[in-house]
Amino acid sequence: MNQLLHSDDTLVASPLFTTTLSMPGCEADAWVVVDSTVRGLAMGGTRLTETVDELELAALARAMTHKLALVDLPIGGAKAGIRPRSAITDRDRLMRTFGKVGRPLLHGGVYLGCDQGTTPADRDAFFAAADYDLTEVPGATRLDVPWEQFYGTMSDITGFGVATAALSTLEAQRVTAPQRVVVQGFGAVGRAAARHLERAGHRIVAVADVLGTLTDPAGLSTEGLIAATSAGGTVDRSLLPARVRCLGPDRAWLTVDADVLVLAAAADAIDPGSVPDVRARVVVEGGNLSCGPVARRLLREAGHTVLPDVVVNVGGAALTGAVLTGVAPSGLSAPRLADWLRTWIANKIRRNCALVTELTGHGSPDPVAELLAHRAVHR
Ligand SMILES: NC(=O)c1ccc[n+]([C@@H]2O[C@H](COP(=O)([O-])OP(=O)(O)OC[C@H]3O[C@@H](n4cnc5c(N)ncnc54)[C@H](O)[C@@H]3O)[C@@H](O)[C@H]2O)c1
Repeated sequence: MNQLLHSDDTLVASPLFTTTLSMPGCEADAWVVVDSTVRGLAMGGTRLTETVDELELAALARAMTHKLALVDLPIGGAKAGIRPRSAITDRDRLMRTFGKVGRPLLHGGVYLGCDQGTTPADRDAFFAAADYDLTEVPGATRLDVPWEQFYGTMSDITGFGVATAALSTLEAQRVTAPQRVVVQGFGAVGRAAARHLERAGHRIVAVADVLGTLTDPAGLSTEGLIAATSAGGTVDRSLLPARVRCLGPDRAWLTVDADVLVLAAAADAIDPGSVPDVRARVVVEGGNLSCGPVARRLLREAGHTVLPDVVVNVGGAALTGAVLTGVAPSGLSAPRLADWLRTWIANKIRRNCALVTELTGHGSPDPVAELLAHRAVHR
């Protein structure tokens, strides 16, 4: 077994295999970690940061295994990482090299998409270098447009799933009045979640990015904010109406009066020490590990409903996995396939949120572990 140990020799993960890629001509380290396979298939994103390492990838690959199992997709979890050793001067070369070196893995059944630090354009570059086309994988769903084009029309899918989790939980709690929503993180996930929640009639009372918190108790205009936001998720304060209050770069978003808190930034946004400050009744983990396990338990003990990351932020992975494994039907036009996938993903997320709420109500300390055990996921 391939065991990854912490510096103090504690076992962190035991993925199926890890591969170190030499990246000839590039000042970068790279790895692919496969946590599990089903019928020889695995999938996950490609993270590009200055700090990524095999341990981080192993934890993320394990989370992919869990996410995919929870939506009943017959495919295992994986994750790739690229860690530049110096400033990237030739991004295209880096991506092409990653594609050339990773080619046997891609063609061998390990799908690698985007993750933190990589864009759809990067993915297209390494797919091209690897001569890889997802829609030509045997057994994959047949599309009537190129995969890149189809994926482009579904770029809100993770935020859509996050919003669906919040909406279905409010519905189950028989909440009919418009709710006050705070969204921490205004990147791809936060923007899409805010837009879907606002369209469903709720009021976005605060949004936070890396620079601080923007708040208006009367409700922010999501479209106006999005128009003032860079692709990376930073809002240009100079473009906002005067009634929007700009608070500092601390965790002001935590203490804004709200009913629903959507976390869509980095890990540990809520740590155990910040639990007493949380005002919102419903906390939605749109980002990976937005709450650590202890903070999650303390929130539940304090009466908050917590919707966990592997249940709610599965949209992008579920979309790709459903096409890759052929679970999505072939022969539909792109718009009809998009509708089918949105309905299928929303139903999976609704069902899992209901089960998490039910298990929590029965006193389960770890509802996700129970759901996975029920599906016999030991991989
Ligand atoms: N994009 C996806 O499809 C996807 C899928 C699954 C999980 N996730 C996870 O969701 C989270 C968000 O992903 P994304 O793609 O939207 O990222 P992104 O990089 O597009 O946006 C991140 C946002 O968080 C903000 N931010 C960073 N640090 C902050 C802080 N300390 N306080 C408040 N805001 C802060 C940034 O300014 C930006 O607005 C990440 O944890 C990611 O791993 C993303």
